[in-house]
Amino acid sequence: MSATPSPRALRTRRALAALRRAAASAGKDGGGKVYAYAGAPVHAMGLAFPGPLGLAAGFDRFGLLARTAPRLGLGAVEAGTFFGGSAGELAVLGSGTARHGSNAAIRGVSIGKRPATPWSRAEDDFLDALFAFHRGADYLTLNPGRDHPRPERFAIVLREVVRARDALGGRRDRRIPLVAKLPFAWTAGPEGVAIATAFVAAGADGLLLSAEGAACPRHAREILRRIATALGREACIVSVGGIDGAREARARMDAGAHLIQVHRGAAAGGARFTRALALELSLRRFGERP
Ligand SMILES: Cc1cc2nc3c(=O)[nH]c(=O)nc-3n(C[C@H](O)[C@H](O)[C@H](O)COP(=O)(O)O)c2cc1C
Repeated sequence: MSATPSPRALRTRRALAALRRAAASAGKDGGGKVYAYAGAPVHAMGLAFPGPLGLAAGFDRFGLLARTAPRLGLGAVEAGTFFGGSAGELAVLGSGTARHGSNAAIRGVSIGKRPATPWSRAEDDFLDALFAFHRGADYLTLNPGRDHPRPERFAIVLREVVRARDALGGRRDRRIPLVAKLPFAWTAGPEGVAIATAFVAAGADGLLLSAEGAACPRHAREILRRIATALGREACIVSVGGIDGAREARARMDAGAHLIQVHRGAAAGGARFTRALALELSLRRFGERP
């Protein structure tokens, strides 16, 4: 974390504090049984997400909301991004088991390479993070970051992490699912479907398709639909970026996403925003592909 947080990081921090207060008061009012999402859980990657709406990485870095997030309509919280693994981060994330009980949200942890590490040696950082966080997470997302390499290079990193994850074997009672975050620049071009398919072939259990940088929501949905159609149910498709309201949330699900994530909308609109989306998604019938 930088010494002087940017205005956008400060807004996220304030929004997280407000969401935590909203979740805590919902717990008091409802005796801990207030859920803003009333639809079916989403079964994906061997996990049961209490709902399809998640909080994107960078919002709740330490996953502090994971226990109470369902009161805000959230089925998942993606902590991180963590670069490698540090003692402080482990103290928070490693302290609990991944699952806090059946009422908790799914806790993802986003992992990346340290900024100073060149991509030619990125595997080491991702493996450090895998070993540091696999016990404290329900799934891990590999984040290529802002200085992302070519997709081919990132797929090689993913293969290494998959191999190491599989070798963890007996140390966990199940294989931790791995999600690859794919920048819009990779999926929006003519090779988009081939690139997405290659990440699944490399072992990704899920793809987090970022629409950040899309010219308009329609373009984002078009790319999402193309990839979801090609992959069918081979991988869990998560859509993030530009989901600014209930309508867009529903449209992403209709375009083939199994799960969606929000960041800036939740930073601006707080619990009112997340609950409005959850309500909309509750009304949608799951298991039905348009
Ligand atoms: C303040 C801030 C911090 C972020 N930090 C991360 C991060 O650490 N890791 C990551 O993968 N994405 C990060 N993101 C990107 C978001 O997870 C998300 O992909 C992006 O904001 C698009 O979603 P939105 O349009 O709903 O905001 C960050 C975004 C913001 C605004």
